[in-house]
Amino acid sequence: MEKRTFKIFRYDSSKEESPRFASFEVPVEQGMTVLEGLIYIQGNLDGSLAFRSSCRAGVCGSCAMHINGKYRLACETQIDQLKSNTVTIRPMAHLKVFKDLFVDLEPFWEKYKRIKPFLQPGEPAPERERIQTAEDRLKLEGLIDCILCGACYASCTVCETHPDYLGPAVLLKVARFVEDSRDNASDQRLEDVSGFDGVFRCHTIFNCQEVCPKDLDPTGSIANLKRKIIKKKFRI
Ligand code: F3S
Repeated sequence: MEKRTFKIFRYDSSKEESPRFASFEVPVEQGMTVLEGLIYIQGNLDGSLAFRSSCRAGVCGSCAMHINGKYRLACETQIDQLKSNTVTIRPMAHLKVFKDLFVDLEPFWEKYKRIKPFLQPGEPAPERERIQTAEDRLKLEGLIDCILCGACYASCTVCETHPDYLGPAVLLKVARFVEDSRDNASDQRLEDVSGFDGVFRCHTIFNCQEVCPKDLDPTGSIANLKRKIIKKKFRI
């Protein structure tokens, strides 16, 4: 069977001073994913290898990592599509590495919680559901499919230079609620992201848009939020 070399970032923050790369030879067959390669290594070559994964179907967002120069979901990346004999894997950037590819996502989730990522209708619940017209639902297209994998966060260099910046995934979520006809907290939401940790910290670098595994456009959504804030401020 054909083999590929997996070159993987290894580091145990509880006992090692510095990281290193370790290489593993992995037998591959057509259609095999990077995640399957990692599972093979963990099961057959080194049980101490640490990484996150869950659904294996591009839905949970757990297995985002830096694979051959780009942030991708390991479960959605076929080894063949990388067109290289070596699969080089690093953990997500801007986050503390606990072990190998397993990072501390707490700062990401803390920012997510800060924006109150739930509907705030501002009125009592109706007897049945809150009705939304087809046109209003269409406005949420491309905004509600984020799986919160964090690939955009890791790819955004502003998240490195300004650790308090909310980041693209969180701001995309704000845009999602601002556009939702059932939400009545838009003014407050816009106010909350109008500071320098919010939309105006975005330098329109586009990395977030480039790496999004769901082809979403955080860059465009952030630009829309900026426009709405400016219009509101200057009443235009
Ligand atoms: Fe970062 Fe995306 Fe803005 S990469 S700077 S959030 S366009």
